[in-house]
Amino acid sequence: MSKQLEKIKHLIQLREKARMGGGERRIEAQHSKGKYTARERIDMLLDEGSFEEFDMFVEHRSTNFGMDKTKFLGDGVVTGYGTIDGRLVYIFAQDFTVFGGSLSETLALKICKVMDQAMKMGAPVIGINDSGGARIQEGVNSLAGYAEIFQRNILASGVIPQISGIFGPCAGGSVYSPALTDFTIMTRGTSYMFLTGPKVVKSVTGEDVTQEQLGGAQVHSTKSGVAHFAVDTEEDGLSLVRNLLSFLPQNNLEETPLRKTDDPIDRYEDGLNEIIPDSANRPYDMYEVIGAIIDGGEFLEVHADYAKNIIVGFARFNGQSVGIVANQPKYLAGVLDINASRKAARFVRFCDAFNIPIVTLVDVPGFLPGTAQEYGGVILNGAKLLYAYGEATVPKITITLRKSYGGAHIVMSCKQLRGDINYAWPTAEIAVMGADGAVEVLYGREIAAEETPEKKAEVTQAKKDEYTDLFANPYQAASYGYIDDVIEPRNTRFRVIRALQQLRTKKLVNPAKKHDNMPL
Ligand code: HXC
Repeated sequence: MSKQLEKIKHLIQLREKARMGGGERRIEAQHSKGKYTARERIDMLLDEGSFEEFDMFVEHRSTNFGMDKTKFLGDGVVTGYGTIDGRLVYIFAQDFTVFGGSLSETLALKICKVMDQAMKMGAPVIGINDSGGARIQEGVNSLAGYAEIFQRNILASGVIPQISGIFGPCAGGSVYSPALTDFTIMTRGTSYMFLTGPKVVKSVTGEDVTQEQLGGAQVHSTKSGVAHFAVDTEEDGLSLVRNLLSFLPQNNLEETPLRKTDDPIDRYEDGLNEIIPDSANRPYDMYEVIGAIIDGGEFLEVHADYAKNIIVGFARFNGQSVGIVANQPKYLAGVLDINASRKAARFVRFCDAFNIPIVTLVDVPGFLPGTAQEYGGVILNGAKLLYAYGEATVPKITITLRKSYGGAHIVMSCKQLRGDINYAWPTAEIAVMGADGAVEVLYGREIAAEETPEKKAEVTQAKKDEYTDLFANPYQAASYGYIDDVIEPRNTRFRVIRALQQLRTKKLVNPAKKHDNMPL
């Protein structure tokens, strides 16, 4: 064999060794936990054969605790680039089979390299997290490595989409990188995220809690809102990443991809003409409205199980990606509260950063009153959504279906927050408050002065009817031009598509500033 061929053989052997990560035994252990290895995950995620790996020969540099005798090619993370639906993406997948995927100095450098490359190329970066946190043997070098990654997450925010899959442990400081990214997906039963684990919790607070209770997918997708998606399997999580990216541009300077659709743009949905119940207090399901008007009923919901009183997610109209924000009258009457405001604000800001038009469907009775909300800062949190809509310069289309009262009317993308097209259904009620509250404030004393309960009820009803006739309709707002048109519900899809077409060339620039100071 020639020297050249010998060297090539050596290279092939090295590659094979690197591909084995922490070795057969640890790969088996990974599989036995119901988890895939880093390389298997990358293969499932990317277009077949598209993966090109970087830094396969990187090894850690630590000599502490005899570490110089234990080295693995690639050092605990697999990095590189490939394509998804033919579009370039960068990826890093932590390899739990090597020191539990824990973060060393060199492992951080590998991740930083793909992040830098993704920024230069203007392509999304996907991180699959499965790691025991800072590599204990490396001390402060590991902390510095985390900080380098966080800094890149921050600079990439709003420039390229960043998506985090949490497919295993994610503890300590390592949870902050996913938290800085745009979307976090957790697998049920095999992943968890927390700053301090159950043992530390026990020693500090005395609280007994399992990993799952403290930071499992269920907790973060329903209670904390840290996870945008919870999935049953890694396969589901990876196909979700592919689906999610299909709605997004490659970076903040590009438009979203157009997808061909057979769904006619002028499809009437007769059911929408009968969806609003006669009684103002009876709910209906906003998902039915969303499903009826978007292309093929295909809705990718974000934060589906968190703050269900507001619905956010991606859909398409005539092939064009949009972000949908919709109050859900079926849950807490669609009221705005702290969590709903935070959830929607973050989504609106994402859409605005990435040139995705926003379609807002309004049926909101107001903000949730009470001490719990006020003490929790509903003023500041509601202001987040107000701020997000007000600063957004992407096309904004608002359809008011039914209630739109008071502050919540303003917050939900009203005309004066630079709503481009504001339509209302004939069932819309746009007013300062509902009839009950208004009559109480305006006529409370007069009603109290009535002598009999029957008379009180009669006057109350008469005043409510008067108020409802005057205000519980869209025409007051339309008469001032705050509503551009009152539309037939069954024709909503067509009107939204026409509006989106009209707004394609929208140009609106906010005043120059270092950055804003939105209420946090
Ligand atoms: C070095 C680690 C490691 C770590 C795991 N390993 N975590 N090596 N540093 N942080 C190694 C183990 O020694 C083991 O090596 C292999 O990875 C698999 O770990 P196991 O414990 O056998 O796996 P499992 O039972 O599944 O438990 C996984 C685990 C546990 C829950 C993640 O390993 C664990 O609790 N690790 C420590 C978590 C932690 O406290 N990290 C520091 C957080 S503080 P072998 O050779 O046996 O395969 C932090 C600060 C960052 O991250 C701050 C940044 C701002």
